[in-house]
Amino acid sequence: MTTALPPGSTIGILGGGQLGRMLALAGARLGLRSHIFAPEEDSPAFDVTRWHTRAGYRDEAALETFARSVSAVTLEFENIPVGTVEFLSRLVPVRPGAKALRCAQDRLNEKALARELGAMTADFAVIDSLADLERALAGPLEAPAVLKTRRFGYDGKGQAKVMRREDAAAAWAAIGGKPGAILEAFVPFEREVSVVAARGIDGGFSAFDVTENEHRNHILHRSVAPARISEATGRMGVDTARRMAEALDYVGVFAIEYFVTGSGAGERLLVNEMAPRVHNSGHWTIEGSDTSQFEQHMRAVAGWPLGSTRRRAPAVEMINLIGDEMGEWTRIAADAGAQLQHYGKAEARAGRKMGHVTRLLG
Ligand SMILES: Nc1ncnc2c1ncn2[C@@H]1O[C@H](COP(=O)(O)OP(=O)(O)O)[C@@H](O)[C@H]1O
Ligand SMILES: [Mg+2]
Repeated sequence: MTTALPPGSTIGILGGGQLGRMLALAGARLGLRSHIFAPEEDSPAFDVTRWHTRAGYRDEAALETFARSVSAVTLEFENIPVGTVEFLSRLVPVRPGAKALRCAQDRLNEKALARELGAMTADFAVIDSLADLERALAGPLEAPAVLKTRRFGYDGKGQAKVMRREDAAAAWAAIGGKPGAILEAFVPFEREVSVVAARGIDGGFSAFDVTENEHRNHILHRSVAPARISEATGRMGVDTARRMAEALDYVGVFAIEYFVTGSGAGERLLVNEMAPRVHNSGHWTIEGSDTSQFEQHMRAVAGWPLGSTRRRAPAVEMINLIGDEMGEWTRIAADAGAQLQHYGKAEARAGRKMGHVTRLLG
């Protein structure tokens, strides 16, 4: 087994958002220091770490200095250029590595891998032009369907629902009208769930309880663990996650988002997408699990044994505070059953994740 990085070691984190902030906080508990690398001046993670570098992801001089100051590098943001990770990998271990990132940055690669491993996904077609889109809607993939950019989408950005064939041109224009899109059949799901799991340097694997997720305006609103699915379906979801991680030589925490269709014996899981990082649907683990997803990730990246994922209450609920919802902080702070996490962002723009609140339920 690779030797674990001892307390006092420094982990480099690419990306300075709330995920980087919570990773750094969790690492600090284990004596692991963090060095954040991010381009944005007002990065929430800068507030809680001893070191940060403010530079662009393609600034090789800055990347080299950064690599020499840390014992391992990880990321909190999946759209880090693969070339950046390849450059750093020549100087320091990067966990997860370029292979995982390359897959998770492209919806087509994610779906292809899931299917190769025997999992189901929505039916899809590769779309590089309006003609491709019209052809797909005329034949194999009838509306309703969802047109998405293959890369760089998040919180529903880069997506357009196609309700009727006649909407093709409008949908194509709505996502920017550039090659590199995918058309997915609209899935009439019963619910959405996610598996947040970790794979260690030694190939060890550990998943948190399957979590049920409710979106509002395509942004995660509420997560509850455990999800209301059968044990068999849950096992299937965890098994798919494990096999995807193995196929990608993955090290660290990641999430697989699923659609659940049908019910009872007809309950089925469709892989929607993979996040090669800690995930919003795993925030409940900070208070709700023996080990949080953030600590688990730092353990994996540092080569430590993975921690216990035992849930600490019959159910745990996490609600995101988006935009001006953080204005409620005084009321939440006065609620003895509520655990508030504020990301320290100065400006509450609409749709921006400002914090979250977790409750252990009886
Ligand atoms: N094919 C689909 N069928 C039904 N709903 C969908 C489909 N694709 C996306 N959605 C809805 O939109 C949300 C965001 O889409 P997703 O593919 O996860 O992109 P991202 O999270 O990167 O914005 C999903 O969680 C789901 O609620
Ligand atoms: Mg998603």
